[in-house]
Amino acid sequence: MNDRTRKLIAGNWKMNGFRHSIAELDAIIRALDDAAHAELWVFPPFTLIAEFAARAAASSLLIGAQNVHAEPCGARTGDISAEMLADAGAKAVIVGHSERRADCGETDEAVRAKAEAALRAGLEPVICVGETEAERDAGRAIEAVRRQLAGSLPGGGGFVVAYEPVWAIGTGRTPSRDEIAEMHAAIRAEIGGAARLLYGGSVKPQNAADLLMIPNVDGALVGGASLKAADFLAIARSARADASSRSAAS
Ligand code: PGA
Repeated sequence: MNDRTRKLIAGNWKMNGFRHSIAELDAIIRALDDAAHAELWVFPPFTLIAEFAARAAASSLLIGAQNVHAEPCGARTGDISAEMLADAGAKAVIVGHSERRADCGETDEAVRAKAEAALRAGLEPVICVGETEAERDAGRAIEAVRRQLAGSLPGGGGFVVAYEPVWAIGTGRTPSRDEIAEMHAAIRAEIGGAARLLYGGSVKPQNAADLLMIPNVDGALVGGASLKAADFLAIARSARADASSRSAAS
């Protein structure tokens, strides 16, 4: 893991997916050879993790969760610990997604505790940060993201960071190439060279190749377009177009 030379394409299914969705997963697994230039991760809802992980076990596809409780066990009705996720076959977990920060009141401190719990259980946390539209309009996007990084990142390494501007999630809007490059350079300066840094927010087959070519974009966190295997795989194939155009240019 943590190979920055290959793009990481991660699918966040959010609150979508039933047992019949295994057909989409199987389609992804069947196409993995064709997408070998990218690393693919899928984050289904909790209910599908064990089944998906068993299905993907013999392949390079990695299965993760969308949330975790910071404590290992105890009287926490309805919650799931990192150790339970690992036991179910998850290898990674998304923490601090803006939907959870907004809907569930997750603070930077809570996000850091979740990331630490993930590392404790051997899971790779994907730590999400991103400014609101008001913060960007006020010229405070980088400041807002730096503050989230300072509060949300655990000490040491072993994590992935996903930059997801809140106003770009599920809206069909994306920041400009320059805005993403500027933000990713600022984040890179904070996190150092080892951690992978994804862009997320309205990544689609149509824009993936352009987004994945931006400096310091090590991959994509994909919501809506990850639900159909064909779209998810098309995004993964864009990573190959990027890799071959870069090697042709060098
Ligand atoms: P989207 O979601 O691709 O549907 O914009 C991205 C995310 O929330 O991770």
